[in-house]
Amino acid sequence: MIKDTYNRVHNYLRISLTDHCNLRCFYCMPEEEYDFAPAGKLMQAHEVETLAKIFVEQGVDKIRLTGGEPLVRKDAGAIIRSLSKLPVELTITTNGTRIHEFTGLLQETGVRSLNVSLDTLHRDKFLQMTRRDQFDRVMQNIRMLLDAGFHVKLNVVVTKGMNDNEINDFIAWTKDEPLDVRFIEFMPFSGNRWSSDKVFSWQEILQRAAEAYDMIPLGRDHHGTAKKYQVPGHAGTFAVISTMSEPFCGDCNRLRLTADGKMKNCLFSKSETDLLSALRRGEDVLSLIEQNILNKAKELGGQFTKDFEHIHAGSIHNRSMITIGG
Ligand code: 5AD
Ligand code: SF4
Repeated sequence: MIKDTYNRVHNYLRISLTDHCNLRCFYCMPEEEYDFAPAGKLMQAHEVETLAKIFVEQGVDKIRLTGGEPLVRKDAGAIIRSLSKLPVELTITTNGTRIHEFTGLLQETGVRSLNVSLDTLHRDKFLQMTRRDQFDRVMQNIRMLLDAGFHVKLNVVVTKGMNDNEINDFIAWTKDEPLDVRFIEFMPFSGNRWSSDKVFSWQEILQRAAEAYDMIPLGRDHHGTAKKYQVPGHAGTFAVISTMSEPFCGDCNRLRLTADGKMKNCLFSKSETDLLSALRRGEDVLSLIEQNILNKAKELGGQFTKDFEHIHAGSIHNRSMITIGG
């Protein structure tokens, strides 16, 4: 078991397959010109499998593939295939632009649930937020996933003045579709121009929803990040991921592996442990994992508190989201 000093058992590993992406979401990519990691620095497919197996032997039973955009990697299919043979629930977070190339494979390998990022229901705003004209493709792919019976969670990063006026349109979508919409509070990462006044908080999201809907609180799943709600009679649900205003670190079970093979014990951890180099040198990876987890901070990587109005984004040490993996 991978246990930290707060007795939290870690059974959920998020593996970033690449820092490349075919979109340019402003909240994820650093503002300045970004150099993607050269291929040699990334974990090769067999290295992803080897490292994943070490974690699985220690009790990890859920793996999520993230990016950048995991499905832009040429051997993404082969990696999905190899990890699907491990005794884990395998899920993927994707921007939805490439899903149509993977549907058969996902069905074959038993991937049943996907998180798809979509921040707006308007084509022009999608272009503005992602700097790529892929709205129609993403919408088609979401439709296709729903029709094929996949469980779809939609990740909506809410930023004040940008898309907070669409909250109720997203909730309206859950009326006839078994979609789980998840509104995510805007989080600070290196270079993403975060400021506290752009956070549209959990409380504000609920207030906005209450203007149009009655809702039943469904609570938060154990280890879950989302506080769930349902409008009576709706097929789907909506939820708020309140990382900033009400973090959920107390029962955190998550570990991360970046695309260049560094273990992070928290999205906001300052330190990381280079498992890939150790693996390439033939050193003991397990002891590094054990050391890393003992350094896990109580909450938010030890870098800030939920008093987010007072965060000075420039003083947070981290990678940009695209290099961590969502
Ligand atoms: N704040 C909140 N969520 C973010 N994501 C990426 N960057 C941020 C941020 N700054 C989310 C996206 C995507 C997932 C990978 O991470 O919604 O779905
Ligand atoms: Fe790409 Fe996802 Fe980052 Fe957008 S949020 S740039 S889709 S990795």
